[in-house]
Amino acid sequence: MHEGVEKILVSEEVVQHRIDGLAKEILVKGEDNIMIVVLLKGALVFAADLFRRMPVMLDLECLNVSSYHGGMESSGVVKFLDTTMPNFDGKRVIVVDDIYDTGLTMKSVCDKIQNSGALSVESCVLLAKDKKHDVDYEPDYVGFTIGDEFVVGYGLDYQGKYRNLPYIGVLSEDAI
Ligand code: PRP
Repeated sequence: MHEGVEKILVSEEVVQHRIDGLAKEILVKGEDNIMIVVLLKGALVFAADLFRRMPVMLDLECLNVSSYHGGMESSGVVKFLDTTMPNFDGKRVIVVDDIYDTGLTMKSVCDKIQNSGALSVESCVLLAKDKKHDVDYEPDYVGFTIGDEFVVGYGLDYQGKYRNLPYIGVLSEDAI
C-alpha cells in the first residue's frame, strides 16, 4: 500500500478484468466510426487501458475539462479549457471519464459533443457514485458503482497527487 492510502477499494487485478468487459460491451454495439474522447486528466490511465483492448479502427481525442480544481468536491462548474474542439462529424463518440459524481461534467460534455455534429454520443466511466446525481443523465457503461466517498488512484487525484496508483484507494485522514 502507498503512503497516505488507508485501504484499497478496487484492486489492480479487479480493475483490469473489468476493463476487458467494458471494451467488449462497447464493441458488441458496433465497431464502426468510433471516436474515443478522453476527459483529462483523470481519465488518462483508464482510457489508455480501455482503448488498447479495442482492436478496431478508431480515433482518439482528448478534452481538457475541470470541475474539482484539485479539491475534494465538485465546484459545480465545468470549465472547458481547450480553445478548439475536435471534429466530431459522423463519429460514434465514446466519452471516457474516470468517475461520475454529480454528473455535471459528463452531461455537459455529451451535450456539447451531440450539438457538434456527432453521429451519436455514449459515455463510459470507470466509477459511478451511488448517489442522487445533479443531472438527469446516466452513463452508458459503468465499471464499478461505489459509495459516496472520496477515492484516489488509477488516474484520480487529491491535489494533483496519487494518479499513478494502479488501484482505486481511499486516503487516510492524515493524508488529507
Ligand atoms: C473530476 C473527474 C471527472 C469529474 C467528475 O475531474 O475526473 O471528470 O471530476 O465529477 P462530476 O461528475 O461531479 O462532474 P476534475 O475536475 O477533478 O479534473 P481532473 O480529471 O483533471 O482531475
